[in-house]
Amino acid sequence: MENAEVITPPFQLNPSTNDVHSYSEPDKVHIRHIDLDLEPSFDRRTLEGSAVLTIEKAPRHLNAPLVLDTRRLSIHAVEASADGKSFRNARFEIGSEDPILGAPLRISLLPRESKVRINYSTASDATALQWLNPPQTAGKQFPFLYTQSQPIHARSWIPIQDTPRIRLTYTARVRTPMGLCAVMSVGNNPKANCGDFYTFSMEKPVPPYLIALAVGDIGFASTGTRTGVYAERPVLQSAAYEFADAEKMLERAEQLYGPYLWGRFDTLVLPPSFPFGGMENPGLIFVTPTLIAGDRSSVSVIAHELAHAWSGNLVTNATWSDFWLNEGFTTYIEHRIQEQLYGKDRAEVEEVLAQERLAEEMGKLEPRDQILHIDLAGRDPDVGTTLVPYVKGALFLKSLEKAFGRDRFDEYLKNYFTQFSFQSITTEEAIRYLRNNLLDQRPDVADRVSLQEWIYEPGIPPSAPIAVSESLDRIRKQAEEWHNGNANRLRTDDWSAHEWLHFLLSLPSELGSERMRKLDETFHLTQRTNAEILQQWLLMAVRNQYQPAYPRLEEFLATVGRRKYIKPLYEELVKTDAGKRFAQTTYSRVRSTYHPISQAAIDKIMGGPNGFEPLG
Ligand code: BES
Ligand code: ZN
Repeated sequence: MENAEVITPPFQLNPSTNDVHSYSEPDKVHIRHIDLDLEPSFDRRTLEGSAVLTIEKAPRHLNAPLVLDTRRLSIHAVEASADGKSFRNARFEIGSEDPILGAPLRISLLPRESKVRINYSTASDATALQWLNPPQTAGKQFPFLYTQSQPIHARSWIPIQDTPRIRLTYTARVRTPMGLCAVMSVGNNPKANCGDFYTFSMEKPVPPYLIALAVGDIGFASTGTRTGVYAERPVLQSAAYEFADAEKMLERAEQLYGPYLWGRFDTLVLPPSFPFGGMENPGLIFVTPTLIAGDRSSVSVIAHELAHAWSGNLVTNATWSDFWLNEGFTTYIEHRIQEQLYGKDRAEVEEVLAQERLAEEMGKLEPRDQILHIDLAGRDPDVGTTLVPYVKGALFLKSLEKAFGRDRFDEYLKNYFTQFSFQSITTEEAIRYLRNNLLDQRPDVADRVSLQEWIYEPGIPPSAPIAVSESLDRIRKQAEEWHNGNANRLRTDDWSAHEWLHFLLSLPSELGSERMRKLDETFHLTQRTNAEILQQWLLMAVRNQYQPAYPRLEEFLATVGRRKYIKPLYEELVKTDAGKRFAQTTYSRVRSTYHPISQAAIDKIMGGPNGFEPLG
């Protein structure tokens, strides 16, 4: 294969970038490698051990301290060494804790020192970690631990320069209690990672937000030569069925964008409290079990996390204001993979659904949050995780594809990934490259796509290539017909999960209990197991105060922690007094079963600006 042996270039730090979400000063001193030695204690809910950092200093800053990001870590000792063998105690100081950023850890070093060993333990409420009791797992017998580092949670389990501006390699040794298995990223050995301890090596430099760990009673099933699934044993077979197309996806993506550089492409299915649909940890993506619908209808999430192997993991956003470079490119590629695998019709259906959701969300966002290159100064980067970087970003790329033609744009993207591989870039750099390598060659065509409008202004440019789907148009007509007449006239036998979803989305939001009951009676919506359909139905149940669905709603909120699903449900519930009471009772019961990331999102909804105070 052409350029098959792309080698990792030495990491160059871009001096023009400022990351407002990190205390670190990587222009002076930066980490190149981290060696972790960690042991989870499920009783105390803490990871304890050491991190040995290999650092590099800029020639003019040999006396500079090493500044790390931390969040509620207990630092027991800090030692430094020039040769990696003999260590001396180093002076360190922890700054004051900022609610968003955590606290800086400043370590004084002698000019020749290049290794720093930190003994530390994590707080029981570390924001990256979720500790699950056995009842919260599929197997019900063993506890489970997993991490979620993106965007700025790595600092809550590793003292690190927690900025995507830097890249580092890492090695790890994890002691696993009770014969549990540990997995980290690409290169897991399905047979050898259970037992007393597990060792791991990530040889490609990655930004800190891609460091990940999971510990539990995890098994493995192969789905192809380079693909497979890790999951708790009771869900292993259904996961392998659901994600059987992973190997084909990988092949198609490589045809489009060049070789996949992360070795294997495996999927780890987490327990249902995982706060995201998926997370692109290199070589081993993390996904929610709500994707397992039995009909392979949610595999676009696998395509999405695969696409990050190029946009995100290879070419990385330098700061969280450039997040659209990760997610917009990835969403565009996700649609391309879906089209290659399942045809134009399905890709269009998924695009239309995404664009409808974007339009709805845009309506609720302040203008400053509708901008691709978002200003996050003084704000939690989480506020940037709306559909804007995803769907508006993808629309921007699609408008370039339309203007320049698919072949030309494919070639451009492939070169972009080669040009910036293993680098972190800003929006400005991406634009410069775009001008020099695409726009300036055809100014007449380039005039049709206004960069200013797309990247720096709110809203969706009027020239956006909005997707249309004939099959969804048909569904919308049927929804109207049903609304004006009678459900029995609908022919729903061959509807896909997407079509059902679109049907529900096409109905007016005020239906009233009687119509809801009729829908439910005819189509058994409360009993659905497809999480997308069920969540939309439950949202309608809350809007229309359709009581028969409430036990199912309660069960859903008590088991699923995926933020995208539960946040809109709580938001809808708190709109009425009765709903608020229901939400409060349910949330105080289930809050501790959510990941800290989902807890933070729901706290905001439940308690106003000061957050939620758990009852009792
Ligand atoms: N990288 C994101 C998840 C993420 C974003 C975690 C920001 C933390 C902060 C991942 O690739 C993603 O986009 N997941 C989506 C699924 C996708 C198909 C839209 C999700 O979880 O909903
Ligand atoms: Zn993504």
